[in-house]
Amino acid sequence: MPKNLGKTPPMGWNSWNTFSWNIDENLIKGAADALVESGLKDAGYEYVVIDDCWSLKERDENGRLVPDPKKFPNGMKAVADYIHSKGLKFGMYSCSGTHTCANYPGSFEHEFVDAETFASWGVDFLKYDYCYKPKGIPGELLYRRMSMALRNCGREILFSACNWGNDGVHDWIRNTGAQMFRSTGDIQDTWASIKNLALSQLNMRQSQSGVYCWNDLDMLVVGMSGKSENSWIAEGGFGCTETEYKTHFSLWAMMNSPLMIGCDIRNMSENTKKILTNSDVIAINQDPEGRGPIEIDHWCNESCKGLVKPLENGDYAILLVNFADGEHPSELSLNFWDMGLPYASGFGFEIYDCWEHKQLGVFRERFCAHIMPHDCVMLRAKLVKV
Ligand code: GLA
Repeated sequence: MPKNLGKTPPMGWNSWNTFSWNIDENLIKGAADALVESGLKDAGYEYVVIDDCWSLKERDENGRLVPDPKKFPNGMKAVADYIHSKGLKFGMYSCSGTHTCANYPGSFEHEFVDAETFASWGVDFLKYDYCYKPKGIPGELLYRRMSMALRNCGREILFSACNWGNDGVHDWIRNTGAQMFRSTGDIQDTWASIKNLALSQLNMRQSQSGVYCWNDLDMLVVGMSGKSENSWIAEGGFGCTETEYKTHFSLWAMMNSPLMIGCDIRNMSENTKKILTNSDVIAINQDPEGRGPIEIDHWCNESCKGLVKPLENGDYAILLVNFADGEHPSELSLNFWDMGLPYASGFGFEIYDCWEHKQLGVFRERFCAHIMPHDCVMLRAKLVKV
């Protein structure tokens, strides 16, 4: 059934980061409208995902999940129909344990009936969490169960596993049939969280993330600016700087993470929209070959990172990040030798800046950049004769 799901990292919007438990039909419809009107849909974002807290606390007499009638008075099929009428796809949430993380009914021992229910509502995507996991049953088996149920429910439903990187998930998740898997704990709207999540997955079995099964660094905090119903996510309410959001988006794109927006897209600033719709950066994330980046040697201090990955058309994506704090730029020099280009090859790189949207010229041996703390440079390099 799921023939074309997860060919590239899934893109969409999820309710959790900003709204958490405070969700209802109007919000979800408004998010669908905003995706279309803001140009996010045209940029590639297609899933509208309702996270935790959408159901009643009890199943019905047939053991089926029941949408909370206060939040979703017309049921989930009506929400799905609205989302589909906008040319978008509909995502929902459940959990592999007895309860969801916010203590609503989980799908343990109800996997097949729940998959059938989701299919009947027109669901296209299921995020599947890891709370209240019964003792003695391996998580791997729980993800196998739901994957089997979804792959045979009569509808294409993308399976988004969310076990926060536990139990060696990198090693077994692809074989369960999931199309994406959370490899980290929950993100917060802070630079420290962005940095911590990205660095935790850098060089972390990148070869296991790729076409049909993507390492998910968690939903984006770009544009949240400290606004969330959830004080743990808001963490003080200061948010991040525009520069930090730009670097966050560049890292997630470069590391082939799914791009699930977490801010209130109904009220986005122009700058947030500019970051989230940067087609040069998105193209690197959505490159059809889906090769992961490697960290490449460079001449700079230890706080800088240089990531490089080959793209389908022969180009290379390059991301240079300055993770250091402070007020002074670091000079980062990337030698093409370290990327595999010998000095005497007769080739150099024509370099395009994906944030400035301009060609920077042809470079023969190395590329140097002065990068401010928390900032980055994202490039697309084309091999040319020199
Ligand atoms: C977990 C997940 C989050 C979110 C919440 C909902 O913490 O990691 O992304 O889905 O549960 O309760």
